[in-house]
Amino acid sequence: MKSVLSERKTFHPSQLERRELPDSAGQAVRALADEIAVTLGPSPAIAITLTDPDLLHHIDARYLELPEAVHQAMRAPATDAGVTVVGRLPLRDDELGHTPLDWRQAAAWAGDAGRRSSSYALDITMLLLARCAGEPFGWQGQQGGRLVNNIVPSPGHEHEQSGASSTALLSPHSEDAFHPQRANLLMLGCLRNPDDVGTTVSSVRQVELDAAQRERLSRRELPILPDVSYGADFPDEPAPPIATLGDEDGQLTLRFDPAYTPLDEADPEFRSAYDHLAAELERVCITAALAPGELLLVDNDVVVHGRVPFTPRYNGTDRWLKRVNIRLPQRRRAAAEAAESGYGQRVVAPFRTIRGNRR
Ligand SMILES: [Fe+2]
Repeated sequence: MKSVLSERKTFHPSQLERRELPDSAGQAVRALADEIAVTLGPSPAIAITLTDPDLLHHIDARYLELPEAVHQAMRAPATDAGVTVVGRLPLRDDELGHTPLDWRQAAAWAGDAGRRSSSYALDITMLLLARCAGEPFGWQGQQGGRLVNNIVPSPGHEHEQSGASSTALLSPHSEDAFHPQRANLLMLGCLRNPDDVGTTVSSVRQVELDAAQRERLSRRELPILPDVSYGADFPDEPAPPIATLGDEDGQLTLRFDPAYTPLDEADPEFRSAYDHLAAELERVCITAALAPGELLLVDNDVVVHGRVPFTPRYNGTDRWLKRVNIRLPQRRRAAAEAAESGYGQRVVAPFRTIRGNRR
């Protein structure tokens, strides 16, 4: 199917739920993160994965100190659009240093005090904010298990369907759709976006489907395979079929990643319903060009996200986002998902463990 997203230049900020963070609240988050960073000291060992017990203890012990305005701003999106822009953290471009060329370099540089970049303190900022929303987690097989992912264009990955791509349209998808423990909420924090590259978001609660299409897409029909950011080394086990559409308290939910779904194996009726859903998601698509200091909260059970193509610079000034996966413990998913193996991918979920230990 031809995509119109690659030509889409129209932004629709008026359709996005916006929450303004008072200046004092934004400064309070950054000040607490800076204090934790100084207390722990610049540490390559901590920065590599951000799972150091001292760091986790500081996050968990102190996020409740943040102003109520921060906690209010970090609630899950409240509208059918399923996305919220939170603005705006105080951030200066000259505190960032160069945009790294890939996630490994980003993690290494975050722990290098000699680089004089605020990347490490901003990692802690993102963890504090994500902790206000729910339980931040990572994946053992993605970016080395780091709890805060760096999204930057990387040489050699321009055409992939992953966050490291650039010149290719990143097709709308649910984050980690292949896995039963995928995030309920995705947080994208913008550090730098000099060319106003748009993030696309489409809510399943705004699409039009007839009863037959809805019924067909609610059956477990085809699998979704892990995306390229997890590598290619997966256990050779059966790929369980999953339902594209789900239901939460009578409202539609979605699990969608056509780039990693073997659609050629589907019968024409399913394929037709799936293609209609994809076209509808394009019709209702909103494009948000995040500014430095803005956060995008994406309800990953309701919304698919993508990114328009752009030309990477590779000169230290490229677009740079920090991404955190967040579990909302109050959310429930379909019971059938509990039997899925997740292709051997394991979450790194230290905040869940801390909570469990306290009970
Ligand atoms: Fe994504």
